[in-house]
Amino acid sequence: MKLLSVFDDIHIEGRVTFRNLKKMEEFMNTEKPAILVIEDEQCMLYAYKALLEDSYRVVLASSAKDGLAKYKESTYSAVVLDLKLPDMHGLKVLEKIKSIEPTVEVIIATASDDTRDAVQAVKAGAFEYITKPFDADELLLTLERVMQKNSLVRENIYLRTTLDEQHSYEDLIGTTPVMQNIFSAIENIGPTNSTVLITGESGTGKELVAHAIHNKSLRRKRPFVIINCAAIPENLLESELFGHERGAFTGAIERKIGKFEIADRGTLFLDEIGCMSPSMQAKLLRVLESGKIERIGGEKPIETDVRILAATNLDLEKAIKEGDFRSDLYYRINVIPIRLPALKERSEDIPYLAGYFLNKFNLELKKDIKGFDPKVLEALKKYVWPGNVRELKNVIERAVVLAESDVISKIPLRFALDGCFISKSLRDSRAVFERNHILDILKLTDGNQSKAAKILEIHRTTLIAKMEQLGLR
Ligand SMILES: Nc1ncnc2c1ncn2[C@@H]1O[C@H](COP(=O)(O)OP(=O)(O)OP(=O)(O)O)[C@@H](O)[C@H]1O
Ligand SMILES: [Mg+2]
Repeated sequence: MKLLSVFDDIHIEGRVTFRNLKKMEEFMNTEKPAILVIEDEQCMLYAYKALLEDSYRVVLASSAKDGLAKYKESTYSAVVLDLKLPDMHGLKVLEKIKSIEPTVEVIIATASDDTRDAVQAVKAGAFEYITKPFDADELLLTLERVMQKNSLVRENIYLRTTLDEQHSYEDLIGTTPVMQNIFSAIENIGPTNSTVLITGESGTGKELVAHAIHNKSLRRKRPFVIINCAAIPENLLESELFGHERGAFTGAIERKIGKFEIADRGTLFLDEIGCMSPSMQAKLLRVLESGKIERIGGEKPIETDVRILAATNLDLEKAIKEGDFRSDLYYRINVIPIRLPALKERSEDIPYLAGYFLNKFNLELKKDIKGFDPKVLEALKKYVWPGNVRELKNVIERAVVLAESDVISKIPLRFALDGCFISKSLRDSRAVFERNHILDILKLTDGNQSKAAKILEIHRTTLIAKMEQLGLR
C-alpha cells in the first residue's frame, strides 16, 4: 500500500481533489466549516463576518487577486463571491475557483438591478445567487443547504472508498460478520472440487456466490455453465443436461451436446435444484455418483469432469419430509452448505449496497447523483426487503432514473413501514395496509395461520398466497 505524504495530491472518485493530506484532514475535521467571502466593499465584508462567524470560520478577501490567493492556500466549504470586483469580473473568478476545485460550492452576491450575470454564473456552476441588499436568513439558509450537500458528498465518498478497501469481495458487497464469513468460506472452498449447496431467499445473491466460487477455483479458465432447472420444462431438462443423439425422439433432428459436456473441466451451476422432478433427481444422482453421462438415445456413457454447484430458495429438508426431494440426492449435493442471509438480517450492509448501486447506475445512466438524503438511508435500513438485494438494486435504479436533483430524497418502496412509505399509488398503499394488518393478526394468533384466516374471513390458502405475494413467508 502506498502511504500518502503531505505533499501528495489526493483524488477521491474524481470528485473531490485535495492538494495534500493536511488539506483533506482539514476538510474532514474542522469543527467550523470555512467560508471564503470575496467582496470589495469593506462595510459589506464586516457585515458578512458578523453574520456568519457564529457558525463558520470566515475568511475575508477584498479583491479577486486576494480571494484567489487565499482560496489556493486552504480548503473551503463554500465561497461567497461578489460579481462586481475592481480587478476581475466575478464570472472569471468563478471559473478559476471551479478549475482549482470543481466541487466547491459558490454563492453569488449580486446587485438587485443586475441579475443577468448572476444567472449566467449559476449556469456556469454556481450554487445559487442572492441579491443585495440580501436578507440575512436567506444567506444563512443557502449556506446551510450547501453544508448539507457537502456532508452528503462526504458520506458518499466514505461509502465508496471504504467499499473498495474492505467491504467487497468479487462482485459481492458485505460488511457484516455473516457476509465476511461467507467470503472466507468461498476463499477456502473455491480451489477444491467439492459440491456446494447455496441456499437463501430469492435475490440474496446465490448466483453471484456461485460465480465467485468458480472464479476462485482452478477451473476459472474453463466454462461456468448455468442451468435453471425451474425455467425448463421437465421433458426438455434431461436433453438440456445430458444432450441427445440425432433421431433420439421426434424432433431431435440433430445431435445436441448437453450442459454437462459443455461444462467439462469447468463448473456446472444447477440453479433452482429444488424444482427438479423426482425422475430427473434420480437421473442426476446416478450421474453424480458415476461421473458419467449418457446422451438420450446414445449408446455409451461419456466420462465428464464437472464441478457441481447447486442453489435453491426452497427448504430442501422440508421438501424431503414432504416427499418432494430425494434425501440421497440432498446428501450428495449438500457437501458444503452456504446459507445466504435475507437482506433484513444484515441491514447494516444496506448503506454500502445502496452506495455501490448508486455508483453503478450513475455510470450506466450517465448521471452524477451525489448521495442520499439521510432520511432515505434510514428508510432503506428499516424496510423489510421481501425481494432482498435484487429489490434494493431495482429501487436504487428507479430512484436514480427519477431523481430530480443531485441528491436522492425520495425512494419508491412498495411495502415500507413506519410512515416511510412514499409511493402514492392506491395499489401500493393497499398492499402496505394489507401487509401490516395481516402481520398484526398473525401476531394476535401467535403465527397460527388457520386462526388468522378465520379472523380475516378468508380461506387459509388465500392467506398463504397473500403472504407469499406480500413477502411475509
Ligand atoms: N452481496 C451482493 N452485493 C452486490 N450485489 C448483489 C449482492 N447480492 C445480490 N446482488 C445483486 O442482486 C441481484 C440478485 O442476485 P442473484 O441473482 O445472485 O440472487 P439469487 O439468490 O440467485 O436470486 P434468485 O433466487 O431469485 O435466483 C443481482 O443483480 C446481483 O448482482
Ligand atoms: Mg438465482
